[in-house]
Amino acid sequence: MTSTSNPPDCEIVFIQKNTSNSSELIASIVEMDRDEFNRAWTKNDWDVFLQGPSDYLLQAILVSGSLIGYGLWKLSKAEELAHLLKLHITISSRKNGLGALVMKEAIGKLETLGFNFQYLEVEESNLPAIKLYEKYSFHIVHRKDKYYSDGKSALFMKRGLE
Ligand SMILES: CC(C)(COP(=O)(O)OP(=O)(O)OC[C@H]1O[C@@H](n2cnc3c(N)ncnc32)[C@H](O)[C@@H]1OP(=O)(O)O)[C@@H](O)C(=O)NCCC(=O)NCCS
Repeated sequence: MTSTSNPPDCEIVFIQKNTSNSSELIASIVEMDRDEFNRAWTKNDWDVFLQGPSDYLLQAILVSGSLIGYGLWKLSKAEELAHLLKLHITISSRKNGLGALVMKEAIGKLETLGFNFQYLEVEESNLPAIKLYEKYSFHIVHRKDKYYSDGKSALFMKRGLE
């Protein structure tokens, strides 16, 4: 687990697979995901992912010691590729630059680790997220109709990949 200081009282914590004992923080992220994230994972989904073969980077953002958001990337070392699976800022803390801070810090960390390329899927109506990703040089590569189980369509976005 590594952490950096940012705006006052704001701390970014990175959790990498098999590098730290961060079980309390992970439990808080799982809880926030369950309570707030559109298309949350179940506790079992998290257990299968975190204990499975995939490498990952999990990022927590804390303000005055309280979790206010998180990001999760699945990593493929051979391709230098990171797949952004989750990014979330709690609703009362949005529009304060924290989503941008998460992206900036994560991109820096991922590049330091050798992951120069990223991709993600985002619901096509999720303008705040799409705008945020575009701000950090993601571009839309294609649209998939009815991609999600509720019938909504997705945009696929990439960064650093042509
Ligand atoms: C997307 C999300 C992470 C943005 O977090 P945030 O802390 O509010 O974002 P910031 O305040 O740092 O804004 C950064 C940029 O995002 C974009 N943005 C954020 N909110 C926006 C909104 N309501 N409308 C349009 N663009 C918006 C803008 O480009 C903004 O830059 P600007 O302030 O220079 O215009 C947040 O809205 C969220 O958690 N949404 C729910 C979860 C989600 O949809 N995650 C993405 C799943 S793929």
